[in-house]
Parts: sequence; structure tokens; C-alpha cells
Amino acid sequence: MKKLNFLISVLFLFMTLLSCNNKKLTEVVEVPLPTTEQSVSIMGSPDDVKANEGSFQLEKLPYAYNALAPNISATTLEMHYSKHYLTYTNNLNSAVLGTPLENLTIEEVLSKLDPNDAALRNNAGGFYNHSLYWKCMAPKAGGEPTNTLAEAITKDFGSFENFTTLFKGEATKQFGSGWAWLVVDRTGKLQVTSTSNQDNPLMSNALIPGTPILALDVWEHAYYLDYQYRRKNYIDAFFNVINWKKVEENYDAAIKK
Ligand SMILES: [Fe+2]
Repeated sequence: MKKLNFLISVLFLFMTLLSCNNKKLTEVVEVPLPTTEQSVSIMGSPDDVKANEGSFQLEKLPYAYNALAPNISATTLEMHYSKHYLTYTNNLNSAVLGTPLENLTIEEVLSKLDPNDAALRNNAGGFYNHSLYWKCMAPKAGGEPTNTLAEAITKDFGSFENFTTLFKGEATKQFGSGWAWLVVDRTGKLQVTSTSNQDNPLMSNALIPGTPILALDVWEHAYYLDYQYRRKNYIDAFFNVINWKKVEENYDAAIKK
């Protein structure tokens, strides 16, 4: 009898240990979600993105990937800068390698390129357009221009409100991928225009040629993660982050040319 009791005790102890072990295997351990700061650090820094060796290098992004949120999310900006922009830049370097264009400025390349050369046209445009676009935005920006640019906008469009309506309309109606622009035309007058794909007003085929001072990317990659099909909402949000101080610098430089 004593032997039987002993065997039952050993069996009970064994079952108890097995139960505890199974509990450990199936126990749900809560893993904390990454904080916003951790997500950004996983994402990396724009300063770590480098183009391949070549004539053209990336324009430094003058703010962090999350600096324009919620108007433009960190994910959109990270993909746009480190993937799309990087690809245009690397492809441009490949397109000009070993050609007379290799030692020209990007503005000279754009004015001289053959529109039938699709690779050069798309990638030179992609490089220039995005380089300007990054600088046209800033955190805690928006509002209205001042000084010389404000005066010119009033003179050429009647009012800032008229300009805003015109620019937003141009960006909204651009069919498919493209860009909306504020340019200083060859007579020194401000004009609003748009271009398809990666074309821009510096190219010889531009409908309204001029020096771009404000650029808005309306390709879906610029807004689809944040706004899906609502391009109009993205255009409205862009006005919350326009760096008018920089646009005014662009204007002052353009009218001196
Ligand atoms: Fe883009």
C-alpha cells in the first residue's frame, strides 16, 4: 500500500511539473509597440542616403522625415526621398556618364537635353524637380509670403487668394503624374503652370518656360499613403508647409538673372 501511495505521489508531482512547463510554453508575453521616436530611428536618417558616385548628388533634406507630419507623413517622405529621389539621381548619373553633359549644371542639362531621350528627360527632371520640392517645404511654415514676393504676387495675380486658387486648380487638374509650378517667366512676370511626368519649365518643350521658384509634386507617390485618391487634401496640406521664405529667395535670385 505504501508503495502504491508513493507511486501516486510521484505521478502527481510529474503531472504538476508538466502542467507548469506547458503554461510557460503557451504563456502570452506582451511586447511593447515601438514608440514614434523608435520608428523614426528604425527608418534611418535622410543624411545616410547617398547617391552612387557621379556628377550629381542628393540635395540634403533640410528636416527630419517626420518634420512635416501630419501634412506629409514620415513614411511618405522617407519613401519619396530615399527611394524615388535616389533612383532618379542614380539614373541621371548613369545617363550623363561619359557624355558632354557630365560636367554641366542640372539647369544646363535640362535646357540642352533632347526631349526624345526619355531616360535623360525623366531622370534629369526627376532630380531637379525633387531637389526644389524639398526646399519649398519646412516644418512650422505655411502662411503667406512677404516682401518682394508678396508684392509681385499681388501685382501679377491681383491677390494672394487669387494665386492660391489658381495654383491649387492647376495642381488638381493635372491629369495623371506631374508637377504644379510658380515660375518667373522670361519677362520677369510670375506665372502658374503645370507639367506632365518629370518635365519642368526649364525644358525646351515647356508650354510656359521660366525659372521655377515653387514646385508641387502631384505624382501619387507623393501623397497616396497619406491621402489615397484625395489629391485635393494633399494640395491643401502642402500650403501648410510651404517655406515662403525660401520661395522668396528663389524669386529674388530669378529676377536678377
Ligand atoms: Fe516625387
